[in-house]
Formats: sequence, structure tokens, C-alpha cells
Amino acid sequence: PATESNALRTPIVAVLGHVDHGKTTLLDKIRGSAVSEGEAGAITQHIGATAVPLETVSQMAGSLVKPEDFDLPGLLFIDTPGHHSFSTLRSRGGALADIAIVVVDVNDGFQPQTLEALDILKRTGTPFVVAANKIDTTPGWNPQDGSPIQGSYESQSDSARGRLDENLYEIIGNLSDEGFSADLYWRVQNFQKNVGVVPLSAMTGEGIPDLLAVLMGLSQRYMKEEMEIDISGPGAGTVLEVKEERGFGATVDVVLYDGSVREDDTIVVGGVNGPIVTEVRALLQPRPNAEIRTEKRFDKVDEVRAAAGIKIAAPDLDDAMAGAPIRVVRDRSEEDVIDDVTSELAEIEVDTADEGVVVKADTLGSLEAMANALKEAEVPILRAEVGDIAPRDVAVASTAREMEHKVILGFNVDVLPNAEDELDTSDVRLFEDDVIYQLIEEYEGFVDERQR
Ligand code: GTP
Ligand code: MG
Repeated sequence: PATESNALRTPIVAVLGHVDHGKTTLLDKIRGSAVSEGEAGAITQHIGATAVPLETVSQMAGSLVKPEDFDLPGLLFIDTPGHHSFSTLRSRGGALADIAIVVVDVNDGFQPQTLEALDILKRTGTPFVVAANKIDTTPGWNPQDGSPIQGSYESQSDSARGRLDENLYEIIGNLSDEGFSADLYWRVQNFQKNVGVVPLSAMTGEGIPDLLAVLMGLSQRYMKEEMEIDISGPGAGTVLEVKEERGFGATVDVVLYDGSVREDDTIVVGGVNGPIVTEVRALLQPRPNAEIRTEKRFDKVDEVRAAAGIKIAAPDLDDAMAGAPIRVVRDRSEEDVIDDVTSELAEIEVDTADEGVVVKADTLGSLEAMANALKEAEVPILRAEVGDIAPRDVAVASTAREMEHKVILGFNVDVLPNAEDELDTSDVRLFEDDVIYQLIEEYEGFVDERQR
């Protein structure tokens, strides 16, 4: 068992992929099996995250993960639901996640959000594996519940195996088109150089032992040094979401990637109008599923250590920003920590020009991703902000000189009702999408049309 001084941080594993390709089912399967595996692996319910301890990982993975080979405490999985772009999962200098799983439906293959996930992983240099999911839907498949993939593969007819192989090679080909050298995971020697593809079924569980083995191996071999941090030191994390919670007011859901947060800590949180300094009122963890319907939905805890997902209740969080940094002050000077948060927010500030389009996005991370994509497309930006589209945005967009800049690009945001009226009566065009490059394509289509 880890002691205070030698405890390694839990690696953070983000689960990404196109809508309906099976991200949540995969996590449910891991979570469900973890729960049914019993005592040793009492998994922790987290905010948007599931912590699975090493013993449970190794019970699920059978002979593929021997606990004595590892000294990491387990894995923290983060689901990225459809509306929640992975780009929220940022931290200073890159991705919040240490590793990612890109889930691809073997029949559906690569789709827009698959490409978007790969783009972000490439940009942030995040190592990842591909879960080639839904292998049980291969015609003629003979399911082998919970079995490692090689055994399952050998139990299939030639024709079923042939069909699966075709789909797998298509995925490997698609990865290569995106600049990743990939292969079936058992042929990969160096998982940092090559992407391993793990065929599996989130439904039947076959191949999940392999996925866990690859994730543990990858973390242990290449990330151990990064996990050697002081998990009792002052915490650092990223805001996933800002939510009203009955009895608590505005709260933030946070993924803590460094250090700890305690009940009496002063924290600094990135907000729409700059850093917010406040005191933790409560650290809240969701109760297990069975109790979610009861009145008491959360357990209060005294301290949380990285890596973990946690809801923090504190005064003045209304203006906190999704994707923004959160820091514990503790024994440091408050000014230093404020400076730290300010400079991290400034890092993300977008280059703006006197003439250009208005960009609105749901989180700081997605705003950053939008700004990068627009820069590549050589589209100038007049103003870029996190938040829903307000009348002020329409007013700003209408000041552009060129028609093709009298434009608002909205990523995953709503149009406020009074902005709707403004849009109707102005010559400002609104483009909305929840896939970044599609949004930019739509806008470029409009520009081309005008230039014709
Ligand atoms: P979003 O959160 O909307 O992006 O989707 P998701 O990626 O979380 O997909 P989800 O897990 O909700 O699965 C979508 C559908 O696919 C559901 O109906 C699942 O039951 C089904 N599904 C997921 N994995 C498998 C699988 O391995 N085999 C089969 N047959 N169906 C699956
Ligand atoms: Mg989902």
C-alpha cells in the first residue's frame, strides 16, 4: 500500500470518440464489472470520472495485469459526453488527460468527432489507444463474455474473423491517413511511437482485459515519473462545468490533477471577469447510483487527492469558467496563486484583430481549439469569448466592415432570446455547430459563395 511519501498519482484516462460509438457503455461495463468484482475494488463515484483501483483493474484483466508488476494506484477514467467537447479537458501547457482511449465503432469507422479527437491528441501530444468497439455486431459473431481478445478471436468462424479483420484494417488505414502509425495492439512494441488498436465489445466485455492491460502498461512504462508528485500538496485542477446545486448555489465540477483540496482551503478559480478568490464550503462526491434518487445526493468529504473528480461548493462561483484553472492557495501567498491563474488564463487569450469574426464557445478549451483552427484557416478574429450569444455579440459583429466578417461562430452555445431579436433585424450571420471543423467549413462555404 502506498504511503504518504511514495504514493503515485492516479493516471487520468479520457474516453473520446464520435457520438454513439460506445464511450459511456465502455465505462459502464468497466464500472459495472468493478462493482460486481466486490470488496477489493470498491470503486469511487466521481464527477464525470470513475476511479478504478489497481486490484480491481487486475481482477478484471485476469492474467493480463498482475498487480505485483505495477505500483500505480489504478486509473481514473473521464467520460466526454456528446455535448462536452474533449477540449475542455485542458491543463497548463496541454491536455489534462495523461492518456486517451479513442472509441471507434468498427462498423461505422472514422467520423467527424473521431477526427476532431485525433486532432486535439496530436496537438497536445497525448498518447492514446484506439478501442475498436462493437466487435460483437460482426455478422456471425460468437460472443465470449469478458474474455481476452485473442481467445475470443480464435473462437470465431473464418468468415466472422475475416469481416472483423476488414474493419480493423480500415481503421488502421484511417489512422495512417491522419499521420499515425498504428497496428493491432499485440504487434506494437513501443506504444509511444505506434498506436495500438484493441478490438473489443463494450457490450460483451470481450477485449476489455486487453484494453486495461495496454492502459496500465502504457502508464507504468512511460508515465511513472509524471505520477511522482506530492499528492498532499496544494491542489491544481481544471473546471469541467459550472452548475447550480440546490442548497449550495453555484458549484464547480473539477478534475484535480495535482495535489489535494481540503474543506478549509482558500482557492483561486478562473472566471469570466478574471480570477475568483473564495473559500471551499464543501467538497462533494456523488453517492453510488442506487442513492442518487434520494434527497442526499452527495457525500461531504474532508480532503480529495489527485487524480479525482470532485464537486466544490464555494461562494462567488457564478462567474467561474468551464475549462479554467483552479488552484489551492494553502501555505503560499494568495497573490502568487492569483498571478499563476491570471497567467494561465492569459496563455489562452486569443489573438484578435481590428477586423474579423466574433467567436463564442462553451468552454475555454473549446475557445482555444476554435481560435487555433481559425488561425490555420487564416480567418481573423475580432472578439472571442466563452458564453452564450448575447445582444452585445451581435452589436460587435455588426461593426465589421466586410460582409464576410459580420459573422458570429457559435460552438456548443445557445442564443439568448434577446440576441435572437437582434439577429433578425441585423445583417449579422450566425453559424452554429458542435464539431469545430464542420463549423469552419460551413463558414468557409459561405465566404466562397460570396466571392463567386
Ligand atoms: P455519446 O455520449 O452520445 O457521445 O455516445 P457514447 O459514445 O457514449 O455511446 P453509448 O455508450 O451511449 O452507446 C451508443 C449505443 O451503442 C447504445 O445503444 C449502446 O448500447 C450501443 N453500444 C455501445 N457499445 C456497444 C457494443 O460493444 N456492442 C453493441 N452491440 N452495442 C454497443
Ligand atoms: Mg456517452
